[in-house]
Amino acid sequence: MRRILLAVLASALLLAGPAQAADAPPGASSCTGCHATTKIAGSVIPRIAGRKAADIMTFMREYRSGTWPSSVMGRIAKGFDGQQTDAIAAWFAAQPE
Ligand code: HEC
Repeated sequence: MRRILLAVLASALLLAGPAQAADAPPGASSCTGCHATTKIAGSVIPRIAGRKAADIMTFMREYRSGTWPSSVMGRIAKGFDGQQTDAIAAWFAAQPE
């Protein structure tokens, strides 16, 4: 039931058009602390705002399984299930690059 609700919420967000920061799905705020939606000069953390949602999903899946080596992302990716990651990826994709 909760999954269905999340899926409905996620599609509602997508239909609502370009998401603003206020519309960020649950969990997205735990990403933006490191992956800021505004440019930070000299940051070593890769920018993901405006990237394709499918690419973000692929990275998260590989980090979760450990296929792709990482310092912190493996641990972070394990904290989110597929639905949550989907919603977060869609939100980042809708942010200006
Ligand atoms: C503690 C800081 C931190 C947080 C929080 C964080 N990330 Fe990351 N992220 C990194 C770092 C550092 C890398 C580079 C890979 C590594 O060393 O883990 C990275 C890499 C990535 C990449 C790959 C980008 C590329 O082009 O290589 C994606 C996608 C990503 N993070 C998504 C997320 C999402 C989604 C969240 C929230 C659920 C998140 N990150 C939370 C620090 C963070």
